[in-house]
Amino acid sequence: MADSDRHPFLQGFSKHRGAPATVVVIFGASGDLTARKLIPAIYNLSYDNLLPADFHLVGYGRKPIPDEEFRTMASGAVKEFSRRELDAEIWGRVAANTTYVSGGYDERAGFDRLAAHIGEIEKGIGGEVQSLFYISTPPSVFGPIIENLGLSGLGGRNLGNANHSKVVVEKPFGRDLNSARLLNSALRSVFSEEQVYRIDHYLGKETVQDLLVQRFANSIFEPLWNRNYIESVQITVAEDQGVGTRAGYYEQSGCLRDMIQNHTMQLLALTAMEAPGSFEAEAVRDEKVKVLKAIQPIALAEPGDVCRAQYVAGMTGGKSVPGYLDEEGVAPGSGTETYAAIRLSINNWRWHGVPFYLRSGKRLARRVSEIAVQFKAPPGTIFGQKERFDLAANTLSFQIQPDEGLSMILNAKIPGLETRTQPVKMSFRYATAFGSNTPEAYERLVLDAMIGDGTLFIRGDETETSWKLYTPVLDFWRSQGRKGMEGYPAGSWGPNEAGGLLAPRGHAWRQP
Ligand SMILES: NC(=O)c1ccc[n+]([C@@H]2O[C@H](COP(=O)([O-])OP(=O)(O)OC[C@H]3O[C@@H](n4cnc5c(N)ncnc54)[C@H](OP(=O)(O)O)[C@@H]3O)[C@@H](O)[C@H]2O)c1
Repeated sequence: MADSDRHPFLQGFSKHRGAPATVVVIFGASGDLTARKLIPAIYNLSYDNLLPADFHLVGYGRKPIPDEEFRTMASGAVKEFSRRELDAEIWGRVAANTTYVSGGYDERAGFDRLAAHIGEIEKGIGGEVQSLFYISTPPSVFGPIIENLGLSGLGGRNLGNANHSKVVVEKPFGRDLNSARLLNSALRSVFSEEQVYRIDHYLGKETVQDLLVQRFANSIFEPLWNRNYIESVQITVAEDQGVGTRAGYYEQSGCLRDMIQNHTMQLLALTAMEAPGSFEAEAVRDEKVKVLKAIQPIALAEPGDVCRAQYVAGMTGGKSVPGYLDEEGVAPGSGTETYAAIRLSINNWRWHGVPFYLRSGKRLARRVSEIAVQFKAPPGTIFGQKERFDLAANTLSFQIQPDEGLSMILNAKIPGLETRTQPVKMSFRYATAFGSNTPEAYERLVLDAMIGDGTLFIRGDETETSWKLYTPVLDFWRSQGRKGMEGYPAGSWGPNEAGGLLAPRGHAWRQP
């Protein structure tokens, strides 16, 4: 098809980014994620002419909401949360095809009404649409929604043709291996794996995708990317906020489930995987699963590979803040960790003997996510250092957020008449090179799901492999109550004890 034959919205854009006629159904459409991320993502895709010509948005939820009211809620969400201002004409295109169906998540009749509504949309268009079901509710109703998509026939719509239905499942995907397996088997009883898109929004971030480009589009890294040159890898996902108003959710989750099992493991997989044969979804995900499967079981008994802690009162942003146990909604004597650090070993040819250190926590010194690849120290001390360790180790760090970019620490000569060295930082900043108005993760992910590209989504076996690694840790911690729960002052970089994971190899946590 010539570019001029395409719908005007799609002209000038690469063809593979064009989705077929689509109806996006959001379950939980009156919720927080819909307002803060999904509606703004759809608006910005419309702004960039990336929505298909025949695009419909249907909200679904228990409360009866008239179409007009839903459109008002949605335009309010664009005004408040979109990275771009609301443009009446662009929003008008989306709003014209935005409707709402009310019904329970466990109410079959509601899904029948939804099916009839989609049928009406198809009649209006005069052809089939693909349905993208976005499950954006609390996990307690994931199961009933999936079951009713099956019973109402919506899950199997148009199977066998390009317009078949798809389902996007929000995180958390299970809370341990058993629940993840049950959720996978519920999904598989209605959908085939290629219809399922499990979200980890970290994969939609530009900097996370850039990690693959840096690794596989530059030839200088691959020869060094192994145990011969790399001393260790540190992955940090730090938040400066406390639990805030979300204690109810967090008490059931904790740091390991909320951050480590999903986000940091995705960063690890992309850092450590072998080069895939292509950038196709299955090729990339095969390599991710392969490296996740090579991770050795985590040692739990003292001295183990894990450290957990809770923040205690401290200072952040110049203000005194309470400790976790004094936050509203936190159970007295709670055993929920707000910080976790893990040491992992990958038993394969590339990584044998290279420790991967992971840490995440709330109320840490600052909000930052980064991957730091630390190279081995240079041999010898020819520049007058007492020890070769006086030289800084070369470190390549990928800043995932904020201040997105890449930097490399090198040793340089300090100008002067004697030879003294100092570490210097070479940096690439996204905002400087490309401007700051980059797409949000959810824009990329919603578009990819519409197009049917699963590369940036988690495959079922991937999520189970990660849970298999961490479920014994969760079981062990539960059996210990608060035994071994360390404390760290709010606003610090975590408990001193976490340093014990690195000390045996003479390593230390970076201060990113
Ligand atoms: N919010 C975020 O920033 C964020 C970030 C990452 C992932 N997520 C994930 O995205 C999903 C949605 O998050 P959210 O913050 O939008 O959730 P939410 O606002 O708490 O709930 C979304 C909608 O689900 C329905 N709902 C709420 N509680 C329910 C219950 N107990 N039983 C049945 N329905 C219920 C409500 O709609 P009706 O009453 O109209 O039916 C509500 O508007 C969750 O799985 C969450 O873990 C959220």
